[in-house]
Amino acid sequence: MSPAYFPSLALLTISLVGLVGAGLPSTIYGVNLGSWLVLEPWMLPQEWLDMGGEQCNDCSTCIASEFAFAQAKPDIVDEVFNQHWETWFNQTDVDQINAAGLNAVRVPLGYWIIEPLVDRTTEYYPRGGILQLQRGLKQLAAAGITVILDHHALPGVASPNQMFAGRCTTDVEFYTPHNYHRALIWTAIMTTLSHIDPAFSSVAAIEAVNEPIMDASQTPGYGDFQKNFVQVVRAVELLLGIHVPGYAAPASFAVASNVTAGFQTTATSFGNMFTPEVVQVLKDATPILFEVVKQLGTNVVYSQADLRGRLRRRSSLVTTFMDVNWQYNNPANPAAAKIGPQVYDNHLYYVFGGVAAANEEAYLTSICNLGRIAADAALQNSPLFFGEWGLPTQFEATDEFLQKWADAQKIAYGKGAGWLYWNFKIEKSALAGDLAREWSYMEGLKRGYLTLDPTAFNDPHVCDPYINTTLAS
Ligand SMILES: *[C@@H]1O[C@H](CO)[C@@H](O)[C@H](O)[C@H]1NC(C)=O
Ligand SMILES: *[C@@H]1O[C@H](CO)[C@@H](O)[C@H](O)[C@H]1NC(C)=O
Ligand SMILES: *[C@@H]1O[C@H](CO)[C@@H](O)[C@H](O)[C@H]1NC(C)=O
Repeated sequence: MSPAYFPSLALLTISLVGLVGAGLPSTIYGVNLGSWLVLEPWMLPQEWLDMGGEQCNDCSTCIASEFAFAQAKPDIVDEVFNQHWETWFNQTDVDQINAAGLNAVRVPLGYWIIEPLVDRTTEYYPRGGILQLQRGLKQLAAAGITVILDHHALPGVASPNQMFAGRCTTDVEFYTPHNYHRALIWTAIMTTLSHIDPAFSSVAAIEAVNEPIMDASQTPGYGDFQKNFVQVVRAVELLLGIHVPGYAAPASFAVASNVTAGFQTTATSFGNMFTPEVVQVLKDATPILFEVVKQLGTNVVYSQADLRGRLRRRSSLVTTFMDVNWQYNNPANPAAAKIGPQVYDNHLYYVFGGVAAANEEAYLTSICNLGRIAADAALQNSPLFFGEWGLPTQFEATDEFLQKWADAQKIAYGKGAGWLYWNFKIEKSALAGDLAREWSYMEGLKRGYLTLDPTAFNDPHVCDPYINTTLAS
């Protein structure tokens, strides 16, 4: 990276040590709003069939993803999904999350929620999700719950044969210049909305990419994407008049009468402050932003509805990446992309294997001596939160064990920046069986595995017998 893009790098390094970002709680106690705006049929199998979806062993072979549904049923897809969005997450759920004492949610989103980004000749997704996001964020803000917007399902598909990728396919095309570019436009729009739309006022962080492929040799260009992601967020903030440490805002933005006019001048205003790709992203985002604010009814005129005043009171969003140790084979370190507040996310799923032997003793020994936070911190990936976890195991777990398993994980993740459970809810139906027992936070609360106060434990000493005293001393 040419130093020309970082005029005050030395200053940045000094001024940002220890800064987490005012918007995020100092310890996160949260849940994911999974299967709301990125629907994974396995979490609501009966509703999916009722909607008109299908069930199959290999999800690429039937209607088992949003893409397959929209492709097969173009005439009803928007209406059917709208019904899902209104019922899967509504005021009742916000009230439950609030009553559970949680302070944050992570909201998985698809690129298609920014509708002009979808190439409708080859890509199929429902429309209208952005209005539901605006509705849900307003309800969360009213409840005082902080939001992490998570780019979960990326343009071109970022993970093979996964419902969470939006389309089940082995044709993974995200790690290409064209799709990185689209993801950056998405980032520019979400950053803008987070700052200018009052409904988005509780958005504190944006996560760049959920669970990229672990083998870094299969994610070429991801390191450059990380740097461009942070620059896009900070460039938009400068454009909006939000203070970015180490950068002086170009004067032209201060005289713009509205947000879209500011975007139209980015090419000349930013000069060489940011990479050419970042400047191109802002240019290409301009007409898309125009469409999206029209769809949402968001005010863009600085002199109206106290927009200037509200922007002056906003602080930088916290840029968020999966931690460097999520990948292997010489991954790029997202810490190298940092400008302003940044946090890191790790997901630990023992149920998928490869973490610990499949028994109680091994699980508790592993989690009670978790080295991930220290290993990440050694690579400047700090603060670290655990953005997805749950109670599923590779063996038949007793109720007694699940209580210990919940306590031990909460103790481990609480030593970092906190945690967000996967998921806030799971369908309860004959077809879903007892899936909710280990995957649903609300069900875990009801059964007493989780505590009514998320900062508490059933047994705060659960780890004592398992801690390696050699390490702990
Ligand atoms: C939320 O949706 C559920 C159906 O899943 C419904 O029973 C409930 O009444 C809805 N709550 C509100 C406040 O609309
Ligand atoms: C934004 O400002 C530009 C330039 O002054 C103007 O042409 C445009 O109509 C304005 N848009 C809105 C929505 O006010
Ligand atoms: C405890 O940790 C030390 C140092 O890593 C290791 O050598 C030892 O085998 C561990 N003991 C147990 C009981 O896990």
